[in-house]
Amino acid sequence: MSAREKRIVVLHGPNLDLLGERPAEHYGTITLAALERLVTDEALRSGWTCLCLQTNHEGTYIEYLHAHRREGALLVNPGAWTHYSYAIHDALELVDCPVAEVHLSDIASREDWRRHSVISPVASFTISGKGPEGYLEAVRRLIDLVEAR
Ligand code: DQA
Repeated sequence: MSAREKRIVVLHGPNLDLLGERPAEHYGTITLAALERLVTDEALRSGWTCLCLQTNHEGTYIEYLHAHRREGALLVNPGAWTHYSYAIHDALELVDCPVAEVHLSDIASREDWRRHSVISPVASFTISGKGPEGYLEAVRRLIDLVEAR
């Protein structure tokens, strides 16, 4: 497998740059930098690398999806775009690798408008409400999916 085939691109959406300052009852106290380090270390244990990106701009997020549509795997947390961005849904349809949708909080048990994800139908699997551990689970499942092919 090439270097790119053994890489997970981790894409964080709006407001996730301020993890650590967001409501702790939903997101805990971990910062984005610490979360990215955990995810990267988990991937490294299996001989994979991670490229971690974050943006508050929807168009940039879509351009990241285009640019990285042929990686080993993608791990996405599109933040609030999860609930209404058909443009991100459509960009994910063009992705040619497994995609994990991950949310720190349990979106099914919060406000009504958060309960629906327009991303889930185009993700390989979704993990929600497990905090940072959900990211580590997603990394392991993505690697297993790719390596079982
Ligand atoms: C989130 C859940 C979204 O509803 C919210 O808008 C976020 C973060 C999560 O990780 O729990 O920004 O995706």
